[in-house]
Amino acid sequence: MSDTVFTAKGLTKTYVSGEVKVHALNEVDLEIAEKEVVVLLGPSGSGKTTLLNIMGGLDRPTSGRLFFRDLDLTDLEDRELTKYRRDHVGFVFQFYNLVPSLTAYENVALVTEVAKNPMRPADALALVGLDERMHHFPAQLSGGEQQRVAIARAIAKRPAVLLCDEPTGALDSKTGIRVIEALLGVNRQLGTTTVIITHNASIQEVADRVLFFADGRIAGVRKNETRREAAELVW
Ligand SMILES: Nc1ncnc2c1ncn2[C@@H]1O[C@H](COP(=O)(O)OP(=O)(O)O)[C@@H](O)[C@H]1O
Ligand SMILES: [Mg+2]
Repeated sequence: MSDTVFTAKGLTKTYVSGEVKVHALNEVDLEIAEKEVVVLLGPSGSGKTTLLNIMGGLDRPTSGRLFFRDLDLTDLEDRELTKYRRDHVGFVFQFYNLVPSLTAYENVALVTEVAKNPMRPADALALVGLDERMHHFPAQLSGGEQQRVAIARAIAKRPAVLLCDEPTGALDSKTGIRVIEALLGVNRQLGTTTVIITHNASIQEVADRVLFFADGRIAGVRKNETRREAAELVW
């Protein structure tokens, strides 16, 4: 078995408002391997984003442990958690949040200027298939192309993990497939461990493993012996 990137033990997040307690995450145990592509599926409110945000150091659990390799994230001071996030984590969200007054190239360069061992912006954009559009502004790009710029921006610092929260949620199937293709290309070429939250069940075909969420728990796991290419997806 390959090396482990994340190990969660009894990971729990509870929100309390007045008398009501919501178990957003309820005693989750989980291991994610280096270079793995994991898809999280499950109904709205089942805890997917909560888990992703804790893995990315954006949020903290109420109890339980979460390790990134040998590093216990649940032990870190805020400043150390920020450093973990900056050094090791790339995020992709449903909305791209590009700076509208900057070109695709410049949006990526914003990140590479402050990273330790970055890719060249042009190389990051080529990796997601946007070499010919890198001097376009966001308004001159389709939604799917803007999302691929956001992926280039997220991976240009060569993060160990790429965490994607509904990256195709705002896209039609054709552009969504190209976005998934870009994520798989990054995984293949950089070895980036990739976690993808989606509502779209067909995306599970491209994963090494699918985790089915229900009520803050992992209610089922599916392991794919072979991963499908994005181009083979139908949705
Ligand atoms: N900041 C918060 N305050 C209170 N409840 C929250 C907060 N964030 C999430 N929740 C609740 O936690 C549960 C899990 O949410 P979430 O992780 O966003 O689910 P998913 O991403 O699967 O839709 C939901 O019941 C949600 O309402
Ligand atoms: Mg969510």
